[in-house]
Amino acid sequence: MSVTTVKKLERYDKVIDCMPDKSMSIRSVLFNAYSIGSATVKNLLLSDDVLSCIDCVRRLGASVELDGTTAHIKGAPFVGGTLDCGNSGTTARLLIGLLSGLNGVFTLIGDESLSSRPMKRVTDPLKAMGARITDTDGHLPVKVVGSPLHGIDYDMPVASAQVKSAILLAGLNAEGKTTVREKTVSRNHTENMLSEMNAKLSVNGAAVSVERSVIYSKDFTVGGDISSATYPLCLALMVKGGRCTVKNVGINKTRTGLLDVFKEIGADFTLSNVKEGAEPTADVTVKQGKLKPFNIGGELIPRLVDEIPALCALACFIDGVSRVSGARELKVKETDRISTTVAALKSLGADIEGTDDGMIIRGGRPLKFGVADSKLDHRIAMSAAIAGAAGDGVKIVDAECASVSYPNFFGEVIGV
Ligand code: S3P
Repeated sequence: MSVTTVKKLERYDKVIDCMPDKSMSIRSVLFNAYSIGSATVKNLLLSDDVLSCIDCVRRLGASVELDGTTAHIKGAPFVGGTLDCGNSGTTARLLIGLLSGLNGVFTLIGDESLSSRPMKRVTDPLKAMGARITDTDGHLPVKVVGSPLHGIDYDMPVASAQVKSAILLAGLNAEGKTTVREKTVSRNHTENMLSEMNAKLSVNGAAVSVERSVIYSKDFTVGGDISSATYPLCLALMVKGGRCTVKNVGINKTRTGLLDVFKEIGADFTLSNVKEGAEPTADVTVKQGKLKPFNIGGELIPRLVDEIPALCALACFIDGVSRVSGARELKVKETDRISTTVAALKSLGADIEGTDDGMIIRGGRPLKFGVADSKLDHRIAMSAAIAGAAGDGVKIVDAECASVSYPNFFGEVIGV
């Protein structure tokens, strides 16, 4: 156990280069490792989750050479083996899908948190495609014995890009057409990248179809992660007179629920230097001012699901009652984020309660100094950090888990 101390910040005025996107970094490594040819990925996130993915694809036979944040990846036919996905749900679930139609026997394991997260959401539809998968009570370790697959038409019961991606990746090696239908479109990086890699993939509203395809290597430059940008941007809104610009933030529409909330609460924010494309980016600038409470739920949730703990920290600094609903998925993230967000912010004196599918925050009362437990969840550590920095300081237990998605978060964002 370690303890990191964050002091109260009297002012906040920062310009930050956005951390590269975690979802896109993992996908660019995994897809290129499996593809035919060689590619260079620039601005790769070198966080623990991405390093876990790199370790897995190396074990599968691909070559990944790192030169700073540039990766040179040479694809290879994957061979069997034991793959440690660490804390990375994206690595585990996407791999299970991709491996199920290949030749070989693969065993996937992960850390304690990942081993308690549900895998049936991917293994059930994959089994319906003919996959031979054995799980451990619906969890890792999962054993995949590659087998011939056939396409399915699948209505997604939960909004999850990981599940959608796993099925589409299996569809690359399935007989016939594989279609995944979502109620609300979750992040679509898999669709964007596979299309650029020669996959026979089509998108029709909230339905995505893929047919058996060979994919070819593709150079990518990873844009910034709006989920990581959330912490400095929210912190600037929480500190009197605060200002922050985060440069090169990914603003793919399936990810920008945060900006919708900024609009709803009346935050002073602007986008500049917009670069259009399948994965557009912009510099985002915010200035602190009077804010209104938020009420978020429904179709917005998949577009900001990872940002909710930070938004709850922000809500503590907004007069009035803010609400999150329809976010039951939070319970199956790296921790049960309804409980861990509530516990972390309560330890700083916040008036917050958990509900069945979200949180209610009565904001506007000053936070006090306290000890918050990250429970080894990177987003809880970073949310507690911004709450403490804008409040009266915080000691965070096991804060270094922030490196799962944001290496040097404390140095760069908080200045510890
Ligand atoms: C991710 C999808 C989301 C998100 C996770 C990354 C991805 O999970 O919470 O951090 O890269 O596809 P779900 O698919 O479980 O919603």
